[in-house]
Amino acid sequence: MLTADEIGHVRSSFDMVFARATEMTTTFYNRLFELAPECRSMFPADMDVLKRDFIATLAVLVGSLDQMTGLLASTDILGRNHARYGVQPAHYPVVGEALLWTLAKSLGPHWTHEVEQAWRKVYDIIAQRMIAIPAGAPRP
Ligand code: HEM
Repeated sequence: MLTADEIGHVRSSFDMVFARATEMTTTFYNRLFELAPECRSMFPADMDVLKRDFIATLAVLVGSLDQMTGLLASTDILGRNHARYGVQPAHYPVVGEALLWTLAKSLGPHWTHEVEQAWRKVYDIIAQRMIAIPAGAPRP
């Protein structure tokens, strides 16, 4: 599904933002709540734990890009959790937009066309798989 080049682009760019994880996740959620203020009430008031969970999970997903079985198992768990949080399929595009915007802002000149295309593909794979798992699905 992903080429070695695409995996390489996502991994090397993720390494750069992971080094500034707190800043990156703060920018991401600020951007999300700017684009979709109606989503704010779904999240806890104190976002610190979630910020750490989000970046750690992203690291696991990015680390699994060359092992589709592992990647899909992780996204199935995430998808089931998110359905329980009340997340709807329609929420995924705006979260993707906030994530890509954050990556672009954090990476500056390193946000090339190839890097952007690779991240779009990865986000689509993860989001589509998360959406496909209903809340009541058994643990994979
Ligand atoms: C690539 C897509 C996404 C990733 C990697 C992701 C990641 C995470 C992680 C790691 C958590 C912590 C709890 C858990 O592991 O289940 C979480 C919680 C949550 N996410 Fe996501 N998420 C994504 C998409 C979305 C979308 C589209 C929404 C919709 C607005 C959303 C809303 C939430 C909410 C409401 C929580 C629960 C917060 C809480 O009550 O603690 N997420 N997400």
